[in-house]
Amino acid sequence: MKTTTIKPLLKSFLLLISISLPFYVLFRLLAITPTSTTSPLTPQNPLTDLRMRPGFSSYESYIKRQLDKTLNPKLREIWTTRDWERKVLVFGQFFQELKMHHLLSNDSKALCIGARVGQEVAALRGIGVVDSVGIDLVPYPPLVIKGDFHSQPFDNETFDFEFSNVFDHALFPVKFVAEIERTLKPGGVCVLHVAISRRSDKYSANDLFSLKPLIEMFKVSEVVHVRKVDGFGLDTEVVFRKKNVQQY
Ligand SMILES: *[C@@H]1O[C@H](CO)[C@@H](O)[C@H](O)[C@H]1NC(C)=O
Ligand SMILES: *[C@@H]1O[C@H](CO)[C@@H](O)[C@H](O)[C@H]1NC(C)=O
Repeated sequence: MKTTTIKPLLKSFLLLISISLPFYVLFRLLAITPTSTTSPLTPQNPLTDLRMRPGFSSYESYIKRQLDKTLNPKLREIWTTRDWERKVLVFGQFFQELKMHHLLSNDSKALCIGARVGQEVAALRGIGVVDSVGIDLVPYPPLVIKGDFHSQPFDNETFDFEFSNVFDHALFPVKFVAEIERTLKPGGVCVLHVAISRRSDKYSANDLFSLKPLIEMFKVSEVVHVRKVDGFGLDTEVVFRKKNVQQY
């Protein structure tokens, strides 16, 4: 019969598979190991679509550069006078749209990251999100309190909503994102305005060439939406929602 000649062949084939499978699995594991270990000495994301700008020899020199802009009396004068109403109005429109999409409500506890003089905080309070505050290296009471976004001065799971348009100012983008995820409540929403197709200002510490590295940095959140915006030199809005289940 035909089957009697096939059976021994099949048997030896199965034997071969069962012997080689453990080796295959072992080699796969060995091959994966090097890529899954990231050096603690490189806090910057190595992905090429996120490029760190050269010129910051230390964290101190980075802070000094940021303070130069934040404390510039001419800029501060413009921010608090000529710029004020227009920016509060435009931020108010952005936030109203987020409200309509149920990503923000009057009851949200909200944080604006890198808020300088706090136009976005004024906009939030103006549309009824009264429990909102900003952080920046230089405080501007009562809207903005002192805080470095690389190490937010808040407990875990504090906010329902966080907004920022200063991702490009982060010297340690991974830390910037990790701090947002740490201080957001489960189910909390993070809205970022970033520049993808154009370059941002001379105070930027990084340049983003696609959303990929940014999305990969969010470990416990999912993307809610991405859309084009015209946000004071920033062209893309990305909205994340922190997952409800603790996964870390
Ligand atoms: C939110 O606050 C605004 C401004 O105070 C108010 O007009 C609006 O009715 C409030 N919305 C809700 C749903 O309470
Ligand atoms: C806060 O969150 C961080 C990271 O998500 C975690 O490592 C840390 O243990 C948490 N701290 C507390 C007090 O729960």
